[in-house]
Amino acid sequence: MRDSEFEFIRTLVYEHSRIKLGSDKRELVSARLGKRLRATNLDSIGEYCRFLQAGSCDDELSHLIDAISTNHTFFFREAAHFDFVRQHALPEMIERNRVERWPRFYAWSAACSSGEEPYSLATTLIEGLKGSTWGWHIEATDISRRILARANDAIYREETVSRLPPETLKAYFQRGIGPQEGNYRVRPNLRDRVSFHYLNLLKGEAPFRDPFHVIFCRNVMIYFDKETQEELVNRLARRLVPGGYLFVGHAESLSGIKHPLQLVKPATYRRPPQS
Ligand SMILES: C[S@@+](CC[C@H](N)C(=O)[O-])C[C@H]1O[C@@H](n2cnc3c(N)ncnc32)[C@H](O)[C@@H]1O
Repeated sequence: MRDSEFEFIRTLVYEHSRIKLGSDKRELVSARLGKRLRATNLDSIGEYCRFLQAGSCDDELSHLIDAISTNHTFFFREAAHFDFVRQHALPEMIERNRVERWPRFYAWSAACSSGEEPYSLATTLIEGLKGSTWGWHIEATDISRRILARANDAIYREETVSRLPPETLKAYFQRGIGPQEGNYRVRPNLRDRVSFHYLNLLKGEAPFRDPFHVIFCRNVMIYFDKETQEELVNRLARRLVPGGYLFVGHAESLSGIKHPLQLVKPATYRRPPQS
């Protein structure tokens, strides 16, 4: 790939998604563009750049971001966050709800990838709210339409679910038979509680009206520069109920950025209850 082509691609990706591609990512970008060349029937990266330059290709821009960003995730990743929800956030909100009378416990998985994060949270909430009449729902968003389609299908390979406790697997997953042998599908009792939507976290406001009790925004900010992180964290903070929690990835410290949240534990922040 020529210098000018790499510069063009990395500027475009930054403008659209705030993902910063350092010079060390040149090989990776080049490898991942191979897929896009095949999909668009173009012969060279130069042609592909001209195709993008010609405009009127918003769809291709999304495919490009998709090819470049990483969707790596797994069930109960950074498990301490799910423990915190079960042991602290949920009991606290159940208690507060006696007075607040919120319509439901409301959560947002803000860069949900293929769904492992929101479905892990869903099993946590279903267990934690057993015996309660309080409803709950999870909104799950991502910038990748391809990955959202997988999340919506909610079908996972055996290797992906094999480390879940057997009782969780039994209660919340259906084992595939025939052509689906080796696959597990999330049962409707969880699927119906999670809604997936396309959302670029850096463009415009999320289309949700009610404030959230918890927001998971994990392992996505790592790609963004400090200024973008600050803008995003402040936007997310405004979407929390007073006393609500924001979870970020353990590699994503918010130190060095201005925000109104209190640090509760590593990678766990709270909107001040009186704010
Ligand atoms: C590494 S995965 C993290 C998944 C999950 N949160 C976790 O921690 O396991 C990062 C996800 O962020 C998404 N993403 C990247 N930039 C985004 C943006 N600007 N808005 C929304 N999602 C974005 C990617 O498509 C990808 O699915």
